Amino acid sequence: MSNLDKKPYKGCRDFFPELKRKQNFIFARMQKIATLHGFEPYDGPMLEMIELYKAKSGEELINDQIYSFVDRGNREVAIRPEMTPTLARMVASIHREISKPIRWFSIPNLMRYEKPQRGRLREHWQFNCDVFGAPKSFGELEVLQVIKNLLTSFGATSEHFAIYINDRKIVDALFNALNLSEEKSYKLIKLIDRSKKISLESLDQAADEILDPKQKKIFLNYLQLKNFHEAKIFIEENLNLADIELFDLVEMATSTSLSEFLSFDPSIVRGLDYYTGIVFEVFDLNPENKRAICGGGSYANLLQIFNEPALSGVGFGLGDVTLVDFLETHNLLSDFSKASFEVFLSISTDQALNSSFHLAENLRKMNISVEHHPNPVKPKKAIQIASKKGIQKVIFIGEEEIGKNIFKIKDLESGTEKEFSYTDFSHIKEFLK
Ligand code: HAM
Repeated sequence: MSNLDKKPYKGCRDFFPELKRKQNFIFARMQKIATLHGFEPYDGPMLEMIELYKAKSGEELINDQIYSFVDRGNREVAIRPEMTPTLARMVASIHREISKPIRWFSIPNLMRYEKPQRGRLREHWQFNCDVFGAPKSFGELEVLQVIKNLLTSFGATSEHFAIYINDRKIVDALFNALNLSEEKSYKLIKLIDRSKKISLESLDQAADEILDPKQKKIFLNYLQLKNFHEAKIFIEENLNLADIELFDLVEMATSTSLSEFLSFDPSIVRGLDYYTGIVFEVFDLNPENKRAICGGGSYANLLQIFNEPALSGVGFGLGDVTLVDFLETHNLLSDFSKASFEVFLSISTDQALNSSFHLAENLRKMNISVEHHPNPVKPKKAIQIASKKGIQKVIFIGEEEIGKNIFKIKDLESGTEKEFSYTDFSHIKEFLK
């Protein structure tokens, strides 16, 4: 006796038809929105050399989250925990030959060794859209529009979600003003990243360990900034920084419907090391969903890890787990429990099998989806099976129909029945509407 477990590996999901239908629906929407915005599809391999992630993905990903192993050829490889390094590698290999901006999208599955919890699994799918080589703020605005248009396409509004945004250049200028060493800057950025998740006392204590009282005061003032206006004043009074891209972007956004979704948030710095400019995360406004639905930002130097000249990039990753939690919390997803075939084709005698196979084939040629029931059943039973599956139209072929050389179709919703001859049923499409 084997005691093999029927459950999937921890933190991974089996996609039974209902879940797969939901996933297909969401992916189709992502593809549609990306295409509407002029993004082209791409994909890459599941495995990469681990060096690709060591270059710029950050300590947390490498030390705690990556799945890596040595292959039979003694190479240290990793299952992709994110898509951006693969994308950068691909863009680095061809960017000289293609016109800019490059706008690409993908929906890869990714693996991270995480503690499974609401909004966090070990395997998730992530909608990625990135733009390379666009003029300043243009790519940023476009990717933010994709996010907003995706979420609003499901019926979400600014009452449901917000895009919290910051600029790493402001954070860098703050660190300069505080005159921090590289080590202290690193510690402080990690503290900013988790500042909203810890208590005020813990924040205070952690800040004391890194900063002197004067530095701490400026730092805590920074963390309390609530909007773009306050941020502007803080920068004017404390930092040596001109031409702030964040404010240009916010200004540009006023000509789109993005503005009502954008909020300044000083705690957004992003955990991955490659971001250099605008950074953002999208959150559900319902506190039940604490994890970001989406995160991204601009990265100026990622191609340099391949010894290529800098090419500005900006993009985001939007996870399927957090997206579904968000949509379901706000009742923005329909029911996927039923298959969406158009016709349930049933016979009440084996003698009808020849006709039913022939009919099924012809209906499929007309692009009509058919579930062909193999065993003879009475019409009442056929209706029961079809309704349970959510199929609204049922075809019967029994002895009477064979005799008359016809088939009957019933609309379960209206109760209407209609007969069709095999020689001419082209107008069946109207009955199926
Ligand atoms: P990230 O913030 O690590 O960014 O992930 C982006 C989104 O993926 C998160 O906001 C969340 O929705 C989802 N996600 C991440 N980890 C998990 C998990 N363990 N379980 C479920 N969902 C998860 C990146 O990965 C960047 N590479 C995004 C990017 C693209 N930046 C620029 N271009």
